[in-house]
Amino acid sequence: MSFAKISQVAHYAPDHIVSNDDLSRSLDTSDEWISSRTGIKSRHISQTQDTSDLATEVAKSLLKKSQLSADELDFIIVSTITPDANMPSVAAKVQGNLGASNAFAFDMAAACSGFVFALAMAEKLIASGQYQKGLVIGAEVMSKILDWTDRSTAVLFGDGAGGVLLETSEDKHFLAESLNTKGDQWSCLQSGSKGLNSPYSQTKARESSYLTMDGRAVFDFTIKTVSKDISQMLDDHKDMAIDFFLLHQANVRILDKMAKKIVVDREKFLANMQDYGNTSAASVPILLSESVDKGLIALDGSQTIFLSAFGGGLTWGNLIVKI
Ligand code: ACO
Repeated sequence: MSFAKISQVAHYAPDHIVSNDDLSRSLDTSDEWISSRTGIKSRHISQTQDTSDLATEVAKSLLKKSQLSADELDFIIVSTITPDANMPSVAAKVQGNLGASNAFAFDMAAACSGFVFALAMAEKLIASGQYQKGLVIGAEVMSKILDWTDRSTAVLFGDGAGGVLLETSEDKHFLAESLNTKGDQWSCLQSGSKGLNSPYSQTKARESSYLTMDGRAVFDFTIKTVSKDISQMLDDHKDMAIDFFLLHQANVRILDKMAKKIVVDREKFLANMQDYGNTSAASVPILLSESVDKGLIALDGSQTIFLSAFGGGLTWGNLIVKI
């Protein structure tokens, strides 16, 4: 039986930073409203780079930190809802940019849950015994799918990428998993769904392909449904002491309420949405990589972390990982 472990982490964000005050010059909003409702203070915005550029930076950094050559990789999975194009995949471009000639590469989309879903799938690839090393990356340029005249969504998101190197291990590191979808609530969060037209098409296209969101419904879903699932997992695995909870960085109020609901010390919930906003599939791996850089997480097998992501689909996924 093979096991998988996260052996390296990395993140990257575009240089250009947009503060809440910057946004309030073009939108009817304020730093006070955005900070108090979301916890977000600023976000990185790509001016020249696509998702594949961000993901390639992360991939190069992962190889450099782990002193691996690109041809040692067996697979590259990128999770994104903002691919450069429908075809080719972002992962294929990353593979080409790296020259990772032995790796197969593909994208996986599960919105904000994408990285957690992709990590769970990648762990199975390694556990199968057929593959030894792979990259799992979450990368987004959310700024390119936002309606920048809509204050209710434009202030929430940011661009960035994060990822991990997954390798074989003799010990079990992926301790528990719960992946879920509630497809009957897909309309709460959508983007890019303007529809494709053909001369034969008789369906009416949506007016806009920008991201739209029923913020209240999403908030309620996270507090009721996702918290319940986290509590259940913690109950089922009482023997596992969790050092840190790394939840999708959508909104600080979600973290506050969740910590209360599942009765966990709020200090154990790491946060960086103040500097990044919501980076969708990139949010959990950016937070993980930053936490390693800050020395909170050591990558030496001594800690247990709880990864949780939730968003469009609706989807949500939880993993307990020894790291
Ligand atoms: N600046 C100033 N006022 C604003 C802004 C803004 N940027 N955006 C909305 N408002 C106004 C609204 O127009 C409304 O005004 P009105 O009362 O005069 O009509 C008022 O603020 C309240 O609007 P609500 O939408 O009810 O605000 P709410 O308190 O629900 O907060 C928020 C909105 C922050 C989006 C909240 O619903 C939320 O946290 N939802 C969670 C979903 C989330 O974070 N989604 C991100 C993507 S999904 C994901 O990643 C899981």
